[in-house]
Amino acid sequence: MSVKYVERKGTGSRKWDGMWSRFGSDDLIAMWIADMDFELAEPIKEALKAHIDKYPLGYSIPPEEYYENFIAWEKKYHGYEVKRDWICFGCGIVAAFNMVVLMLTRPGDAVMTVTPCYYPMQDAATTNDRKLVMCDMDRDGMTYTLDLEKFEKTISDNDVKLFLMSSPHNPVGKIWTADELRGMMDVCKKHGVYVVSDEIHADFEWEGHKHIPTATLGDYDDILITMCAASKSFNLAGLQNSYIIIPDDELRARYKDFQQRLHTTGGNILGYVASAAAFGQGREWFDEVRDVIWGNYLYVRDTFAKRAPKVKTAELEGTYLLWIDLGAYFKTQEEVRDFCENKCGIAFDYGAWFGGDQYARFVRMNLATSRSYVEAACKAILENLPL
Ligand SMILES: Cc1ncc(COP(=O)(O)O)c(C=O)c1O
Repeated sequence: MSVKYVERKGTGSRKWDGMWSRFGSDDLIAMWIADMDFELAEPIKEALKAHIDKYPLGYSIPPEEYYENFIAWEKKYHGYEVKRDWICFGCGIVAAFNMVVLMLTRPGDAVMTVTPCYYPMQDAATTNDRKLVMCDMDRDGMTYTLDLEKFEKTISDNDVKLFLMSSPHNPVGKIWTADELRGMMDVCKKHGVYVVSDEIHADFEWEGHKHIPTATLGDYDDILITMCAASKSFNLAGLQNSYIIIPDDELRARYKDFQQRLHTTGGNILGYVASAAAFGQGREWFDEVRDVIWGNYLYVRDTFAKRAPKVKTAELEGTYLLWIDLGAYFKTQEEVRDFCENKCGIAFDYGAWFGGDQYARFVRMNLATSRSYVEAACKAILENLPL
């Protein structure tokens, strides 16, 4: 097996060395931000080394394989036939959806998310002086579904202009079905709501669940922007490179014009080279990483099911982020926080970050680390749970 765990403390890793800013400690098991603790895939290392050995790092444009390899990957693994011309650059997906907020809406306009929701999407509304509208999903145990009538009513009541969605869904690890996606898209089309489909986690689709690119489900070109990247699948987030897919000519022209004004039309050569190698030669490594993550998931799920069944885990359908309910033991964020950080020594993303107090009883565990950290975290939780 070529996937190797790598100790990242002391390497400038935000997950490990930057935890202080959120947790007030740098000595917790880092299971928060969605970043993996594995060595870079060999083909990516080789491609980067080959470039650096020979060439400087001047201003650059994407090599053709940057497009070709992504297009082939998207077609082969997700059945989405992306045209070369539709692809725009994004210096990270969070930056890109913030730009889309600025481009497609005005101050005071309503921007919607479904909650719980990846918190930078909420921030994209509030920090840009837009009105954040949250449509809560319905929860049955650990299963989340969206009430389409409520979704439509939220849109019409608030005159929503833009809907930011992650698919697969972060943080609950849900893979949207074709019916759910089509339902949301048809409502958005009917009400003239633009949609960002953030598909950064697309490659993490687990047993019995298949990620469906939103764009493949109907004629949504005039309202839809899809965002993809190699950054989650291959842990390249630090290179800030993403593929922003905009099939509609007019919408794409607006995006490019907006980028031009901000001078963010292109990225760095290392991001291009690494993404091209990832999508071109990285599948074997990726499949091995998937096996490691899946093993970690089964370990956590089964450990709690056997030894502390009141700790509830969501079924992992997509992403490598596990949504866990500690509500049988704790009610407030302070209680959850005290337990996780002070008693167990773990840094999780806290449920409340994803939509307020109603999610305070939940935590989100990042499974993309060594089995020994996963085991240590479970052990700490089991030993410290109140009787
Ligand atoms: C749904 C989602 N979108 C975007 C990102 C981050 O993307 P980027 O690093 O390209 O800004 C993450 C990272 O966790 C994510 O979970």
